[in-house]
Amino acid sequence: ALITLRQLLDHAAEHGYGVPAFNINNMEQGLAIMEAAEGCDAPVILQASRGARKYAGDIMLRHMVQALAEMFPGNHIVMHQDHGNNDATCLSAIRHGFTSVMMDGSLEEDMKTPASYEYNVEITRRVTTAAHAVGASVEGELGVLGSLETGEAAAEDGSGAEGKLSHDQLLTDPDQAVDFVLATRCDALAIACGTSHGAYKFTRKPDGDILSMETIRRINEKLPDTHLVMHGSSSVPQELQDLINANGGRMPQTYGVPVEEIERGIRMGVRKVNIDTDCRMAMTGQYRRIAQEKPEEFDPRKFNAPAMEELRKLCRDRFERFGTAGQA
Ligand code: G3H
Ligand code: 13P
Ligand code: NA
Ligand code: ZN
Repeated sequence: ALITLRQLLDHAAEHGYGVPAFNINNMEQGLAIMEAAEGCDAPVILQASRGARKYAGDIMLRHMVQALAEMFPGNHIVMHQDHGNNDATCLSAIRHGFTSVMMDGSLEEDMKTPASYEYNVEITRRVTTAAHAVGASVEGELGVLGSLETGEAAAEDGSGAEGKLSHDQLLTDPDQAVDFVLATRCDALAIACGTSHGAYKFTRKPDGDILSMETIRRINEKLPDTHLVMHGSSSVPQELQDLINANGGRMPQTYGVPVEEIERGIRMGVRKVNIDTDCRMAMTGQYRRIAQEKPEEFDPRKFNAPAMEELRKLCRDRFERFGTAGQA
């Protein structure tokens, strides 16, 4: 059944586990994620970006999620808007059956220009008031997602922003987080702790200096009732890079967030863990492998079935390691 983000993350906080939020754009991703969730009795957050809504269409997404809820009656599902950029995006998502929205006011509506703190508070407060009135949850974001290694802010389109930011600018300030939550009443808060979106996060395996677990710990201590969200949580597994590159791909060597660092984050209080890039890579590795190994093949199902199997394995691993398995 569909539930709100608040309902699911209250349970996760009480029982000390994390929930992966997987991005979906099509039926194959939806089925694979839900089969993994069913296989290990896990609740799940499905999230659609603005790009996903444009790709699949709101009516298709709404019916797809309803179909998934009907096909997998034993699993709690949250349907969430990823990175909403204004009131209209968030409210139309709710109208289309989303039970939760992210109002990302850390950036202006163009999702490129860093926004003022005042703008962020005002728009997040407005969206939260409207969402709560109809029983939906809200995730806000405070801080600049970006790599502490390079000092580059991460624009939502994956390109680095101009100029270098300091270590402090790339981490959410705990006192400001308290002020933000009091002013906006959001249910969950995306924080900056050194991760960035996309495949190219780090040029070496990140350690404690690059990812700030201390930031997570301090914010969680001050905001026990607000659920912390870690964006940019793909691990960019080496074996997926290798498979893609062994079959004609050209991904430069890169490093993501090791799963053990996410597990540490969950112990420090992270409850929602956003993963998109790993899911894309799991499927693309199989598309490339089939294309290479069976050049005579042209039935899309012969490409999609192994891609779904690989995505299923990836999701199941995250459910198990985040402690979501068994909490359906
Ligand atoms: O944070 C962005 C997500 O990975 C979604 O990406 O806008 O290309 O659908 P997208
Ligand atoms: P990744 O690019 O690391 O998968 O992050 C996805 C994300 O944060 C979506 O909001
Ligand atoms: Na931000
Ligand atoms: Zn994100």
